[in-house]
Amino acid sequence: MMTRTQSPIIIVHGGAGKIPHGEQDQYNKGVIEAVEAGYDLLRSGSSLEAVVEAVRCMEDNPILNAGLGSALTIRKTVEMDALVIDGSTNRMGGVMGVSKVRNPVLLSKIILEKDKHLLYATEGAHEFARNLGMELISPEELITPRARDLLESYLSKLSAPSDSLAGKTGTVGAVAIDHEGNLAAATSTGGIRGKEIGRIGDTPIPGAGTWADDELAFSATGVGEWIIKTMLGLRTKMHLLISPTAEHALKRALNDMRILINGTAGAIVVTRSKGWVAFHTTPTMAWAMKEKNMKKSFLNPSGW
Ligand code: GLY
Repeated sequence: MMTRTQSPIIIVHGGAGKIPHGEQDQYNKGVIEAVEAGYDLLRSGSSLEAVVEAVRCMEDNPILNAGLGSALTIRKTVEMDALVIDGSTNRMGGVMGVSKVRNPVLLSKIILEKDKHLLYATEGAHEFARNLGMELISPEELITPRARDLLESYLSKLSAPSDSLAGKTGTVGAVAIDHEGNLAAATSTGGIRGKEIGRIGDTPIPGAGTWADDELAFSATGVGEWIIKTMLGLRTKMHLLISPTAEHALKRALNDMRILINGTAGAIVVTRSKGWVAFHTTPTMAWAMKEKNMKKSFLNPSGW
């Protein structure tokens, strides 16, 4: 029998990259739509279903950097990463460098449910999807004129495109706790704009950009190289063991990142017993949260 002791909460982020001028409203709308879609499932469903639906919603939003409208590689192609973790069962599934699936988060959830291998990359992931009867698409279908323009404008401003990682990031993610206290996390990204072919970021690395267990669910955004170097998800988990709140733990983890590598990032965290937090040391991070009697978003702090 289902025990309903926990008030469900869902938090989403739409990336910590610099929000292009004039697009604040679209980012705000994107994260609010996603949190509403996830919360609708969370009313009677699991945290896993909720985070996957919220991330699917953001992958289909051409403004956000995941799925349709993903940031492009230096060769003007799409290479996407995603990971889904069900904290209550310790199941996880993820993809790296995929370009022929419309929703990497849905393929990740199927990998999680099959529970054989955890991570599939590039053509192996496409073959896995094809064998399951999933529709494979042309990578061109995911490329928007806006993504092309952003890459061109970015490259035109740099004499050495690979020198600086900051400022060209973006990722979408969701964390939730359901009525039964089960935690789940999902993250999806096109990666860093102008990245080299084959580069993999933090998003599909368990414990780096995405983590969930029976105490917390975590999803990060920012420069993948910095998030992996500091294993930000697991670092937050370690701090949580001796911290009074999720906020305290995440701030300590981000402070470690600043001290160790002078890096910045953003993350959303929900815990079973120490609250939730959305916090960033990057200039911005679009996010929204919803629970029974409260809803909040960063770009519209009074709620919606
Ligand atoms: N955080 C997304 C990436 O670096 O790929």
